[in-house]
Amino acid sequence: MTTDTLTRDPASTVPLSQMDVSDPKLFQSDTIGSYFTRLRREDPVHYCPESAYGPYWSVTKFNDIMQVEVNHQTFSSESKLGGITLQDMQSGEASLELEMFIAMDPPKHDAQRKAVSPAVAPSNLVLLEPIIRERAGFILDSLPVGEEIDWVDRVSIELTTMTLATLFDFPWEERRKLTRWSDVATATPETGVVSSFEQRREELLDCAQYFKGLWDKRANEPPKPDLISMMVHSPATRDMPYLEFLGNLILLIVGGNDTTRNSISGGVLALNQNPAEYRKLMADPGLIPKMIPEIIRWQTPLTHMRRTALMDAEIGGKKIRKGDKVVMWYLSGNRDDEVIDRPNEFIIDRPNSRHHLSFGFGVHRCMGNRVAELQLRIIWEEILKRFSKVEVVGAPERTLSNFIRGFTRLPVKLRGH
Ligand code: HEM
Repeated sequence: MTTDTLTRDPASTVPLSQMDVSDPKLFQSDTIGSYFTRLRREDPVHYCPESAYGPYWSVTKFNDIMQVEVNHQTFSSESKLGGITLQDMQSGEASLELEMFIAMDPPKHDAQRKAVSPAVAPSNLVLLEPIIRERAGFILDSLPVGEEIDWVDRVSIELTTMTLATLFDFPWEERRKLTRWSDVATATPETGVVSSFEQRREELLDCAQYFKGLWDKRANEPPKPDLISMMVHSPATRDMPYLEFLGNLILLIVGGNDTTRNSISGGVLALNQNPAEYRKLMADPGLIPKMIPEIIRWQTPLTHMRRTALMDAEIGGKKIRKGDKVVMWYLSGNRDDEVIDRPNEFIIDRPNSRHHLSFGFGVHRCMGNRVAELQLRIIWEEILKRFSKVEVVGAPERTLSNFIRGFTRLPVKLRGH
């Protein structure tokens, strides 16, 4: 890098005391990386006294993030204290007053998680695999070869929505409702997805209403291995208050949709930006299972999770005070060269590729990680059977968010064998 670029790069010139990494535009323009590099080097546990989200700590190194993750007695996820994102969950106009187990502490968290986790257990995934494979093949076979298409809409969204509809046993023709609700749940008016928080609230109440209908129907049927039936029949969840029920549904919809969707798109982009890795994959499709965790590390579809300190504590030598907001930047931890060898390189046969932070850690570690990996593995197996290349033919458009790291558009052309 020349001195000239260094002087122009705001990440290297802004005084540390004024550095605020919360601006969604830094993520949309994909320029956030150099800010995190500087923080890891100069101030790995960094205090930002003033931001659009109030004061917050940024934890940017892999091992410090782990230290926060494993200590839920000190670092709470509780929604009433602000929950799990930089943006407080229950304050101001953004408030939805939803209750979901990702934003609860043990013991309540543990009981609710236990009730729904069998739906994504390996034994159930074995049943799901052939259905997902058939649907993946169906989506890919419907695509035109040699014409420009939007990969996000035609493949990533379609496939993850189909899987989610399968997990919920959701009415098939209406499955795009799930996509819409997932988008709406994480939207703010700036994103253009909704025009106001009021509209978001109304659409999510429609979502709740719809699911209430499914819930009532399943309550009168014998138990089945779908998520709604499991929640209806489990003693830990069947008497849930209405907002808690809605919250847990939205958690499963958002958890299962946006993240996997953006990993599917992110993988295509990463392979195009690293043609030698694409060639390696074409020469040996057996590398797919190793490549999937590398794609998930590389993409880091959720940039962060947030906690609130329940008592004074210390991280990386810094004094955290009771009530402070602590943000674990997974996107930064996944580029920490003290833990990950050559972290800025995308290496599809990376040894130990599962050692990343994208799924979090500790009691809240992602419940759907195996479903996500399964979908990605299947889609890549089916892509390689059909196409010699998914070629990116234009600039990707990225999501305006400091939480979801993803794409709104990725123009590609498919090349046949
Ligand atoms: C929790 C990431 C896919 C359901 C989480 C957390 C992260 C995450 C970072 C919080 C971890 C923590 O606080 O330590 C991802 C990524 C995915 C993905 C990167 C895809 C590549 C899925 C899927 C589902 C799902 C497919 C459901 C079908 C959940 C649930 C939780 C969760 C229910 C809450 C767990 C708890 O609080 O105990 N996920 N997720 N996720 N995820 Fe995922």
